[in-house]
Amino acid sequence: SAAEKGGHDYFMLKEIEEQPEALANTLRGHFSGGSVVLDEQRMTEQDLRDIDKVFVVACGSAYHSGLLAKYAIEHWCRVPVEVELASEFRYRDPVLGRDTLVVAISQSGETADTLEAVRHARTQHARVLAICNTNGAQIPRESDAVLYTHAGPEIGVAATKTFLAQVAANYLVGLALAQARGTKYSDEVEREFSELAAMPEAVRRVLATVEQVRELSRETADSKAVLFLGRHVGYPIALEGALKLKELAYMHAEGFAAGELKHGPIALIEDRLPVVVMMPSAKGRAQLHAKMLSNIREIQARGARTIVIAEEGDETVRPFADELVEIPAVPTLLQPLVSTVPLQVLSAEIARTRGYDVDKPRNLAKSVTVE
Ligand code: G6P
Repeated sequence: SAAEKGGHDYFMLKEIEEQPEALANTLRGHFSGGSVVLDEQRMTEQDLRDIDKVFVVACGSAYHSGLLAKYAIEHWCRVPVEVELASEFRYRDPVLGRDTLVVAISQSGETADTLEAVRHARTQHARVLAICNTNGAQIPRESDAVLYTHAGPEIGVAATKTFLAQVAANYLVGLALAQARGTKYSDEVEREFSELAAMPEAVRRVLATVEQVRELSRETADSKAVLFLGRHVGYPIALEGALKLKELAYMHAEGFAAGELKHGPIALIEDRLPVVVMMPSAKGRAQLHAKMLSNIREIQARGARTIVIAEEGDETVRPFADELVEIPAVPTLLQPLVSTVPLQVLSAEIARTRGYDVDKPRNLAKSVTVE
């Protein structure tokens, strides 16, 4: 009923609005006395301290959240991180051992590919830390440590609030590891956590752009394809934006690292092709910002219709944006938590305009329990 959907015609739209709360619930209870607190820990502090290599394994949107974990964990912990699709991981014969940490991210905790990756890691004596939204699911049961995202049940097949919760959970794991390894002291961990704790409010503010994004989505609904460009943490979000559009609107959509444009994708640009650009922070990442400006200029000159997601107050980008969606200015690593929201609305609204059921996209399942 409409009441169950919080007055919306789809659960997904309700779940998009629930994100500030989902994020707050994920952060709550996971920080106490200057330290990150996991929900279950069957490994010692020493085990955590000895970790010298991290693999992140996941599928779908969870994999995109995992790509972000790499930026945070390498930066904070000074330990190499590889992010891999769970379905590829164990067939590659990865190098694993007692000092390897495998972070398995799964909303359902039942995804077959991720579960098998966990089992393979355990046979090779690696430690496994699960990030999961479902209490007592199989993946957390078979892991050495667990951090639950408390995003609440998600009915829409395409991940929304559980994706944001996974991103936050990855950062919590990064902070826990940094603290155990001594690459961050308690006061720094506390400062990073307080920046995370400000994010539910930032997400609430970005939800105010929903109406504008709906309007521009309707104009995009009959395009034959949409491209997404990002750099640094904007790159995984470009991939996630493209995945959402495929899943919901059945449109051809691709995410690219903007630096790769001239190595191929720029050949796809044609008149009126919508290109969504995730703009790096002008203050936080000035160099990347300047490079992205020149990328937008290039594609606009070739006729693309540019839909730019940029920090509020970023005036330099305005002349190159056919559509400009402003998001709150937040620390660079945390930008994905706000920049994802307009992309969710974009794909849901394009799908609705095209007449599709956004809660139950064709051919897809919420949880894929076969390999
Ligand atoms: C399916 C869902 C996706 C989800 C993926 C991984 O493909 O349709 O939305 O991201 O599985 O699911 P998990 O439960 O492991 O996070």
